[in-house]
Parts: sequence; structure tokens; C-alpha cells
Amino acid sequence: METQIKDLRGRAEAAISAASDLKELDEVRVKFLGKKGELTGLLRGMSQLTAEERPLIGKIVNEARADLEQLLADKNSQLKAAELQAKLATEKIDVTLPGRRVHAGHLHPLTLTLNRVKEIFMSMGYSVEEGPEVETDYYNFEALNLPKDHPARDMQDSFYITEDILLRTQTSPVQARTMERHEPNTPIRMIAPGRVYRRDDYDASHSPMFTQVEGLVIDEGISFADLKGTLEDFSKKIFGDKTKIRLRPSFFPFTEPSAEVDVSCVMCHGEGCKVCQGTGWLEILGAGMVHPDVLKMSGYDPAQVSGFAFGLGIERIAMLTYGLDDMRLLYDNDVRFLKQF
Ligand code: PHE
Repeated sequence: METQIKDLRGRAEAAISAASDLKELDEVRVKFLGKKGELTGLLRGMSQLTAEERPLIGKIVNEARADLEQLLADKNSQLKAAELQAKLATEKIDVTLPGRRVHAGHLHPLTLTLNRVKEIFMSMGYSVEEGPEVETDYYNFEALNLPKDHPARDMQDSFYITEDILLRTQTSPVQARTMERHEPNTPIRMIAPGRVYRRDDYDASHSPMFTQVEGLVIDEGISFADLKGTLEDFSKKIFGDKTKIRLRPSFFPFTEPSAEVDVSCVMCHGEGCKVCQGTGWLEILGAGMVHPDVLKMSGYDPAQVSGFAFGLGIERIAMLTYGLDDMRLLYDNDVRFLKQF
């Protein structure tokens, strides 16, 4: 039996050292030390031994098992290390490669422009108000001095939801809504940014949806000079110090007198170019002194307070500040365009 063990040991040692991967090594383990392995088989034969022989052979078997287990463990870690080494060799990391850039999103040019406009007016002490995009006929027209059959309604063809509810055509309804929220004659200095809707073509300079910022200032003794000074200050802040403004008489039912306001062309500074169609001026907003009837309808007393209002188009300002020749660029969501801001 002793020689059998010796022989088994010799063959097992040779098999262990010959194993070239972990799978093979495990097969060797099962063959010699497994439940049905050779060594277990030998142990079964021990019942035939005499009482003196048993402990002796038992000792030799246990030693053989312990030694082989040790050999298996050593070989196992040796093979594992080799496998890891091979894996590392194929998965080399070049730490000198430049890092991969993380593409963070950013604000849309319209939002950037709107934020800039808001900042300028907030720095002048204006609050920022909001009104609904789905508006009532009353606030969108009637409270602004445009009764049901007023011809000026034709200037702003809208999308009606019912006869009395429509998508607002302008941010001016926020004027009436803001006045109504205040005690009569309380001073107001606010802007109201938001989307407006009109039945319009979709081309380089028109869109059925666009963005406006309304302005409203009411207090005792507010004059046209205040309006002009405010707009001049705003224009210089947004288009640069050299910017001049020009007011042309106009008509809005909710302001009297009313004006269209031009800024000196941001491209040619008044010389005349393609952008200003040779005139040297660009129209950017409508404005005027709040009509006494509008004040009255919202509970304010025109004998006590006066005010001015203006409405400017954000797309127009974005196009001028970024030098865009097509408004649709702002809505197409072409990443190649948007990436540039
Ligand atoms: N709401 C007008 C428009 O959209 C602009 C405007 C606002 C004019 C406030 C005067 C005062 O055309």
C-alpha cells in the first residue's frame, strides 16, 4: 500500500506541474483528491490492514493529501497570476491619452437673450411678472381698449380655442393682470416675458409663435421722457454704448401717444447696409404712454397716476446680437447651430 501511495503521489505531482490552465488543474484535483478520486479509493482499502499498520498508513495518506493540496494551491495561484498577466497585456491602458471631453448642455440662444434682457431691467428695479399663454379675450383685447369689433384686432389674427379663449397674441394682457393684482394706483415697475402666438407665415423673419417682453411702469408723474430714457438706456446696454434710438409715431389702442422704436443698425452703425435695408435703423419694439381707459379698466385713476408700456421681440434682439439672418434657426434645434452659443 505504501508503494501504491508513493506511485499515486508521483503521478499526481507530475500532473499538477503539467497542468497548463485552471480547468486542467481542477480536473487533476478531482482525479486524485475528489470524492471518487484515487486517494479516496486507496483509503477504502485500509479496512484490510492490521491494527498496527493502520495508523502508519493513515499518516502517510494524510501527508500525501496535505502535500498535494499544497501543491494544487500553489499551482492555482501561479496559473491565476499568469492569466491576469495575459489579460493585462491585451488591455493596456495608455495613461498619456488625452481625456474624453464630457459634453455638457447649455442654454438656448433665445434663453440667453431673454436672460440678458431680464438682467438689464432687473438692474433698473423691475419685477418679473407672468401671465397665461392661453388667455381670455377680455385680457388679450378688451382690457387693452380693443372692444369686440375694433378694427385693430385685425393686426393680430389669433388662434381661438373658444370664442372667448385664445392663445395670447401679445404679452400686453399681463399689464391688466398685474394692475388688477395691486391696490389701485400702487406704483408698478415690471416686465413680463413669454411666448405669444399669431396666425403668421413661417419664414426667415416670421413665426406663428415668438417671444415678447412686456414692460409696464406706473407711478405719479411718469412722462414720455421717462419712457424714452429707459429705452435708450436699455438699448445701449444690450447693443453697445454707441447705440442711438429713434421714435416714430405709431398706433396701439392701449397706448396714447404710441411709438415704434428703432435702434441704430447694430451692423453698420447707421451707415446703411443689408441688415437695415439701407436705412441705418432697425425696429425693435412698440411703446407708448398707457391709455387712460386702460388704467381705468384695471382700477387705476388716470388723474392720479400715469405710466408707460413697451413690448419687445426677443427673437429680433437675438438675431441682431448674434448676427442671424434667419429666425427659423432659433426653432429648428439643429445641434450644429446651437453648439455655437
Ligand atoms: N403689444 C404690442 C405688440 O405686440 C407692443 C406694445 C406693447 C406696444 C406695449 C405698446 C405698448 O405689437
